[in-house]
Amino acid sequence: MAQAGKVKRVTTHVLQEMKAAGERIAMLTSYDFSLARLVDRAGIDVILVGDSASNVMAGHETTLPITLDQMIYHASSVVRGVERALVVVDLPFGTYQGNSKEALGSAIRIMKESGAHAVKLEGGKEVIESIGRILTAGIPVMGHLGLTPQSIYKFGTYVVRAKEQAEAERLRADALLLEEAGCFAIVLEKIPAELAAEVAASVQIPVIGIGAGGGVDGQVLVLHDMLGINTEFHPRFLRRYADLHEVITGAVGRYIDDVRTGGFPNQDEQY
Ligand code: KIV
Repeated sequence: MAQAGKVKRVTTHVLQEMKAAGERIAMLTSYDFSLARLVDRAGIDVILVGDSASNVMAGHETTLPITLDQMIYHASSVVRGVERALVVVDLPFGTYQGNSKEALGSAIRIMKESGAHAVKLEGGKEVIESIGRILTAGIPVMGHLGLTPQSIYKFGTYVVRAKEQAEAERLRADALLLEEAGCFAIVLEKIPAELAAEVAASVQIPVIGIGAGGGVDGQVLVLHDMLGINTEFHPRFLRRYADLHEVITGAVGRYIDDVRTGGFPNQDEQY
């Protein structure tokens, strides 16, 4: 029974119930305490501490350079700001592929050192052994198929994936494998909407899309993109809900003017 005054937390079971009830799941990224707190207070269901922090926070071109220690730093900052949402953390590149023992060690470090609730990793069949081993430790796993940015050098480009029949077939099979292995949800990134809807209907676990159309069980966007902080990135799937680039550069510009003209601080703003 929920205690008086306590917020009811979103769990993996709640997400499962939402799918069964046909309720859509809202997910966003966060990488720090202050924004995670705002996003949580707004009522988001899932916060992803994505390895997109490598691009958004650190300015790298890809997600590959971010380390496990850096992900744990971001994740623990987010966890301190969150009361309600489920916090999922990306296992960074090189910490789970090809070695299920290392995958388990990485997932345990994330859970123990950040206090997050689940991990996410990219891939299908090739990472099934790692997923199985992580699950044996009682750590919930979210899968990620379609455009998997950690494989960008294999793909060579960020264009829509699984347009060809062979790749679509592999993706359908991988989604079933992830469900069978015990993943609690799957992210589908940048694939045709029809294929995504078909996959969502074929599994019992929630399917969260990014650039995968409206026929899935929920949506995820990168917070800084949807808030309009990053203006350089404008794929078709991205809807901007604010223009914080304008708001922030405008405010900083006014502050600079005030400092330079002696308008700040005024009599009321000093001791
Ligand atoms: O790292 C990330 O932000 C992600 C989302 C784009 C799904 O994996």
